[in-house]
Amino acid sequence: MSKAKFNTALIVGAGSGLSASLTRALAKEGIKVALAARTPGDLDALAKETGARAFACDASKRAEVEKLFAEVDAAFGAPDIVMSDMAPNTVGHRQTDHLRIVMLIEAAADFAIEVLKPGGTFITKAFQGGETAEVLRTLKAAFTEVKHVKPKASRQQSSEVYLVATGLRPRG
Ligand SMILES: C[S@@+](CC[C@H](N)C(=O)[O-])C[C@H]1O[C@@H](n2cnc3c(N)ncnc32)[C@H](O)[C@@H]1O
Repeated sequence: MSKAKFNTALIVGAGSGLSASLTRALAKEGIKVALAARTPGDLDALAKETGARAFACDASKRAEVEKLFAEVDAAFGAPDIVMSDMAPNTVGHRQTDHLRIVMLIEAAADFAIEVLKPGGTFITKAFQGGETAEVLRTLKAAFTEVKHVKPKASRQQSSEVYLVATGLRPRG
């Protein structure tokens, strides 16, 4: 990761796992990190350790997403990277769980396209077969490259994958 290329990152659905490791790695590179979670108080220790700033946001609520954009923009400017590590609480009903996953991926993709700097990168947690053709179409129209990535740290048995979209095209 090069310092010249990225200055700011926004991680939505942040917690103590992968997103905390990512925050530490980004902060080490001198990248300013905004963390958004439904209960931002849980991120106080991480924010103190890394210099990141924590914001409250339930991404399923449009008004909260808009407030988050305004706050992050005022604090850091438009982010170069938006990452969503959100996953819904599952209820064990296949179709319901699938719909909840799709909704979070779509919400994250929409807001990333709206807030990212042109040229920016969007990364979202997804699940094999979890996103819709529609969200892939939206991302492919908005970014120059879109791919699925299975990080080494992700358990092989898990259907978890990450969608990585790079090079946000300038908005028309
Ligand atoms: C699998 S956990 C990942 C936690 C975290 N990224 C980490 O590295 O520890 C999924 C996270 O998504 C968050 N989440 C689910 N729905 C959300 C929503 N509508 N808005 C914000 N966060 C949400 C949950 O609170 C939870 O922290």
